[in-house]
Amino acid sequence: MNDTRDRLRIAVQKSGRLSEASLALLRDAGLAFRTSRDRLFLYGENMPVDVLLVRDDDIPGLLVEGSCELGIVGRNVLDEQRLAGADAPTAATIQPLGFGACRLALAVPDGGAIATIADLDGSRIATSYPALLAGWLRAQGLRADIVVLTGSVEIAPRLGKADAICDLVSSGATLAANQLHELATILHSEAVLARSPHALGAVPTQLIERLCARIAGALSGAGARLLMLQAPRSALAAITQLLPGRERPSVVGLDGYPDDIAVQALCRTTPDWQQLEELKRLGARSVMVLNVERMLA
Ligand code: PRP
Ligand code: ZN
Repeated sequence: MNDTRDRLRIAVQKSGRLSEASLALLRDAGLAFRTSRDRLFLYGENMPVDVLLVRDDDIPGLLVEGSCELGIVGRNVLDEQRLAGADAPTAATIQPLGFGACRLALAVPDGGAIATIADLDGSRIATSYPALLAGWLRAQGLRADIVVLTGSVEIAPRLGKADAICDLVSSGATLAANQLHELATILHSEAVLARSPHALGAVPTQLIERLCARIAGALSGAGARLLMLQAPRSALAAITQLLPGRERPSVVGLDGYPDDIAVQALCRTTPDWQQLEELKRLGARSVMVLNVERMLA
């Protein structure tokens, strides 16, 4: 697309793990939106910036063809496109966004025939990430049939289409709901801000830079939350893994309770209820989320 536009377009996942936090970040960056009737488009009301709501897998392509200048997408999706496209131009990562942490993992049916990584040899593996999976299989010296699916990968084993899957895992709820469990992690990922490779796009560079600076500003303070909780010391590792922030949490002892600790963690976005419930399940008590007014790193 080579039209001249005076409005910047940013692509965001329409419905999925990253959707809510992506829009929250844009609002933290000071953008206000009106939703189009078809809900595919958010019209920026106070800046010439519009949001396209799309499938996350389509975001690298939209950036490469120049239909959008910026995108918020999982690093895994960019990595896949880079590997699959060989020398084709790719979207550049501007910065990690501190949310959407997940892993690309191999998972197999509970109680099934595949119990170890070696058992994957000769199996059929369903995935939306064939290039990343192929690279991993090669490195492990394994052969498998890769069944490429664009959605609902988790039901492939039940449908008899595959013996294993390679998909994103965040909370693990999708795997559990489908009687699957993880066998191996292929890569860790999180949401990143990405940019179209077209340096001379249709939209003024100034506007792109202004929005990127706003996003960086929003990330470095505003919108931050302080998560406080108490927990058994033995649960610390599991709790730290679940914390949405990237900073190291502060951990202090509790007078008179040697087996317990208090944890404070800075979060870039508000932890959602599911995350809080998982923390509780791991033994956290007195879980509190506080607004951070100001912050000086
Ligand atoms: C991923 C993945 C699972 C879900 C896992 O989907 O495909 O459906 O997240 O999350 P959980 O472990 O918390 O249950 P994503 O939001 O990336 O959307 P997509 O697969 O439709 O692209
Ligand atoms: Zn996807």
